[in-house]
Amino acid sequence: MRVHVADHPLVTHKLTVLRDENTPSPVFRSLVEELMTLLAYEGTREVRVEPLDIVTPVAPTTGVRIADPKPLIVPILRAGLGMLEGMVKLLPSAEVGFLGMARNEETLEPTTYAERLPDDLSGRQCFVLDPMLATGGSLIAAIDFLLARGATDVTAICILAAPEGLQAVEQAMAGRDVTVVLGAVDERLNEHGYIVPGLGDAGDRLYGTV
Ligand code: URA
Repeated sequence: MRVHVADHPLVTHKLTVLRDENTPSPVFRSLVEELMTLLAYEGTREVRVEPLDIVTPVAPTTGVRIADPKPLIVPILRAGLGMLEGMVKLLPSAEVGFLGMARNEETLEPTTYAERLPDDLSGRQCFVLDPMLATGGSLIAAIDFLLARGATDVTAICILAAPEGLQAVEQAMAGRDVTVVLGAVDERLNEHGYIVPGLGDAGDRLYGTV
């Protein structure tokens, strides 16, 4: 498994505004989308392409296009939905599947409550979107799910991670074709499973407390 932490002043700047408890939902939503575009740029470094012959106004040349089968983007509901637009902007030909995962607030274990994915993911590159890599439980479950259906490789894009959760994902995914792209790795996880300093509950901040 590979880990890439974005090291860019624009990412840090946008993250700072995102973390601020006074940042209202509409600003939070646009910042998540902007951050996602920056992280998607890193996350798609290995996206599969194939040669494409074209003719410019000056001369024939060979470029590339996104190869078939098209990549699959999988936002984890609900907070991952906030990252979807930013990702789709960069990879418009990708397909989108959905995984609904929630954590049991007592055991902190993940449960799958919704799934809309192709049965067979053979040969597919998958991009999982989940803003907060906290305990790592739901991300591990989501990646396992996709690999078990035949995905060739999985890239997870998260805005923030706790070191404990990142270590858990690294242990679970050792030796597998998995990449995790992060905006930042924070200090720790608190006793309620929140990332410290973090940004609070990403779903609530995106969509309110419903
Ligand atoms: N999920 C969140 O939304 N925030 C955290 O800090 C941890 C998990």
